[in-house]
Amino acid sequence: MSHVAVREVDPVDASAVPDAGFDAPHLVTELPGPKARAHIAFDERYTSPSLPRAYPIVPVRGRGSVIEDIDGNRFLDFCAGIAVNATGHAHPRVVAAIAQQAAELLHYSASDFYLPIYAHLAAELERISPFHGPSRVFLGNSGTEVVEAAIKLARYWTGRPYVVGFLGGFHGRTYGSVSLTASKAKYHAHFGPLLPGVYHVPFGSAGLDELEQRVFHRLVPANEVAAIVVEPIQGEGGIQVPDDAFLPRLRRICDQHGILLVADEVQSGMGRTGRMWAVQHWGVEPDVILTAKGLASGMPIGAMIAREHLMTWSAGAHGSTFGGNPVSCAAALATIMLLEDGLIENAAERGEQVRAALRPLLAAFPEHVRDVRGKGLLVGVQFDSGATAAAVEHAAFERGLMVLTAGDDVVRISPPLVITERETATGCRVFAEAVAAVAGR
Ligand SMILES: Cc1ncc(COP(=O)(O)O)c(C=O)c1O
Repeated sequence: MSHVAVREVDPVDASAVPDAGFDAPHLVTELPGPKARAHIAFDERYTSPSLPRAYPIVPVRGRGSVIEDIDGNRFLDFCAGIAVNATGHAHPRVVAAIAQQAAELLHYSASDFYLPIYAHLAAELERISPFHGPSRVFLGNSGTEVVEAAIKLARYWTGRPYVVGFLGGFHGRTYGSVSLTASKAKYHAHFGPLLPGVYHVPFGSAGLDELEQRVFHRLVPANEVAAIVVEPIQGEGGIQVPDDAFLPRLRRICDQHGILLVADEVQSGMGRTGRMWAVQHWGVEPDVILTAKGLASGMPIGAMIAREHLMTWSAGAHGSTFGGNPVSCAAALATIMLLEDGLIENAAERGEQVRAALRPLLAAFPEHVRDVRGKGLLVGVQFDSGATAAAVEHAAFERGLMVLTAGDDVVRISPPLVITERETATGCRVFAEAVAAVAGR
């Protein structure tokens, strides 16, 4: 059985480094190069224009924390495919687990049949979950799917109609999740009406004052709220780390009113912040936790882990043809092992290194750099404007470093958790050069 086989291979080398000679930045053409330009023209003829491409890179190969584009240019990856490739690109342990499972069984719907590896992964997720006590797990294919599952489960179990989210939150793009998303109005534009019964308050302790004084007092009684859905650290919203009182108080409010606390750790989970889960920085246990991006190192999967007593919904109430497909489950089991064998510690250490290296930018470029923040390898550098953040993103790309903007005016740094000390230092140096170039120095 793949689960067992994955566990039998040699202990991990958590500092898995790129293949020899696969270092970065290493630029061999102008950017975008000729093949990239040709491919982008082809792409733009056939693909949906709704895809928000950040800059003209055409990735074809990855090793460790390095991405090679179609022209042979190599970039240091401070994005990880939007915080997804937790174990880096093509980690041999993950690739082996995928290949082995693919050769055994590619698919058999776990909704209708007892797929072994699905239950093995569910047991692993209970083991690593931030709850005391038993849990049960539903597997989907993506972040948005498990947000949908959580909304449905919360309504089903509580019998209550309303859901509360936070301004700046991002939860996905399907109707339930996009109704909870409140990071940018463009995600709602032309799509209304959205899911009814969704309320938003500001992120942080001030937002909880508003929740109690305005929402519960004037809009909906607290005992009709099914769930409060929160990103413990907002990702797309601009790497917003809440004040320390926020999550413990949110937990108390939920307990007081019988509301389910749903932690959306699709971006912040799986070791990215230097703990397995971001909620663990504040010692808060949610009722439901959601994970996706980093869970299977890039294979599509999402998981809703809920306290066992909440899983009372009946057969057929929820399911998915592909959710928890065996190949993604195999990748997830290998990923969890690698995270626990050193990558979470590496995320904590490299994250400190990134913030220490970039904090001097505050003094060096006070006209542009406003903040350097985050936990572990979920780091945000805030600039004076969105235009500056976008210019820094582009200047980094031109120097062979991949970063991605978030929120209104932030550049997000979310490398693979295998990134080495040397690569981290190189990336931070290139980032500083990009900021200097944008500042005209
Ligand atoms: C916190 C959070 N929740 C949900 C999602 C949606 O995930 P997906 O794009 O896999 O549907 C994202 C995606 O960025 C996210 O960051």
